[in-house]
Amino acid sequence: MTITRTPKKAPRVLLPALLLLALSVPLPSQTRPPRPADAGLVVSDHYLASEAGREALRRGGNAIDAAVATAFALAVTHPSAGNIGGGGFLLYHGADGDVTSFNFRERAPLAASATMYVDPSGKVRANSNHDGPLSVAVPGTVAGLWLAHQKLGRLDWKSVVEPAVDLARNGFPVSWELRPFMERIAAAEHPWYEGTRRVFLDGGKPYDAGAVFAQPDLARTLERIRDQGRDGFYRGETAKLIAEFMTKHGGLITEEDLARYQAVEQKPVHGTYRGYDVYGMAPPSSGGIAIIEMLNILEAYDLEALGHNSAAYVHVLAESMRRTFADRAEHLGDPTFNPEMPVARLLSKQHAAAVRETIDPDRASPSAVAKTGELSAAYLGHTESEETTHFSIVDAAGNAVSMTYTIEAWYGSRMVVEGAGFILNNEMGDFNPLPGKTTAEGLIGTAPNQAAPGKRMLSSMSPTIIARDGKPYLLIGSPGGRTIINTVLQVILNVLDHGMNMAEAVAAPRIHHQWLPNKLSFEKWGLSPDSVSLLEAKGHLLTPRRAQGRAHGIRIDPETGRRYAAADPRAFNGGSAGD
Ligand code: DON
Repeated sequence: MTITRTPKKAPRVLLPALLLLALSVPLPSQTRPPRPADAGLVVSDHYLASEAGREALRRGGNAIDAAVATAFALAVTHPSAGNIGGGGFLLYHGADGDVTSFNFRERAPLAASATMYVDPSGKVRANSNHDGPLSVAVPGTVAGLWLAHQKLGRLDWKSVVEPAVDLARNGFPVSWELRPFMERIAAAEHPWYEGTRRVFLDGGKPYDAGAVFAQPDLARTLERIRDQGRDGFYRGETAKLIAEFMTKHGGLITEEDLARYQAVEQKPVHGTYRGYDVYGMAPPSSGGIAIIEMLNILEAYDLEALGHNSAAYVHVLAESMRRTFADRAEHLGDPTFNPEMPVARLLSKQHAAAVRETIDPDRASPSAVAKTGELSAAYLGHTESEETTHFSIVDAAGNAVSMTYTIEAWYGSRMVVEGAGFILNNEMGDFNPLPGKTTAEGLIGTAPNQAAPGKRMLSSMSPTIIARDGKPYLLIGSPGGRTIINTVLQVILNVLDHGMNMAEAVAAPRIHHQWLPNKLSFEKWGLSPDSVSLLEAKGHLLTPRRAQGRAHGIRIDPETGRRYAAADPRAFNGGSAGD
């Protein structure tokens, strides 16, 4: 039998008809959906930690209770950044309009000095500021969570620490995210990694993905914290184990350092952007000031009209970043040691206007143009890893927490305190290591951010809350070293200028410029070759990079009160939990 095929070409009348049909079908209004909730909502880097936060909310806890539960759970399930051995910042905006923040950034030990990392030949000593016991600063996380809970928590402390104890004692499934560290630690031989090998290896080998990963030493430490509050970490058994570990391996932290550690409640920095209130962390974070300065600069541009990630848009962003990062490096450090920082000036609309004047819409500036004074606060030579972790929480009443904390590098110092089961930070690497040595390659050696006893090192962590009419509207933050500041900026612009929903806003490709080195990086596939050519024609030096940040955010619809969360798709185990 012969089959006669009809020609494939559609009759001419069919095409307009199909087009009309297509136009009559409403297009989806969003490219990806955020998670809605009408009561409490938590979004973090690990789904089990988000569940722990939601449980606190379901038991009648508020956003601070949920933050404590989530943070301790992340210390178990997300050990590359979640921690009790590091530090960070918690920003709070109550439904009643009260705004405050808690600074639990680590502090240099009492025996620290500006020259502690300098070898006799004037170079940074090996195994000093980024690796090994000298890289460890006095941890702040437990003191910060304790202080925030004492001031604003509602549930019993024990009940919000308990989920983390359970996760550490009974274990949770190993994901592929944990495997690379387990493989690395299996090959690490230095004696100071003995405790790490004991915790992260199963008979000397990495755990298989899916295997149950229990951490009994960590469970015991968390029980002490659960039962004794901050003293369960800073005094007694845990403090003794930390101090013994330091003595054994040549570190500086003593029981006195731990007993004297204090977290502080401090006033957030505040700015405005297109009628919204913007709240961020004050120094020793540079994030709040830098984000407000960039928003002030950008407020004069019609960013929506420029178009998301068009060459013209990326140009004004990059030029704002270049100038703001120069200001950051020039001025910022621990305020206790730098009382003269020009915070009010950097936050002002006048300063932004003066900075904006120097931006040429057609040409990229050399970074030298952005330099307005002596270089100072940041150590730009070190290639930063992208760890740290952020979570956002809103409770049923509308109280909001935006919290970022870190152990600095990926798994911090990679040293687990023997017998205590948790990883120590390597945050001392955020100080400028060589006093007086500032180089064109970006090594910064000037005074505001040099180590001193009890001093806090400058940070880029930027937990942020945008409010409207006195109520929280957008909660956001990210990991990523200095890229944090630019990641958070872009998510804010994605929502406020480009009208993206929460999921679209955290997923959209990002760019980064930090003044020095003079380099405009963009997420691979994030800019079209056409845009790259246009930016190169303006004089930008472009370079593709891997994923930038893991921004976990919540937006609250002011009309309906409905909340929408999105975990950044760049996060391996990220997740939201809400009701
Ligand atoms: O506080 C800071 O800015 C850094 N220690 C944060 C570290 C980070 O995000 C990952 N990489 N270094």
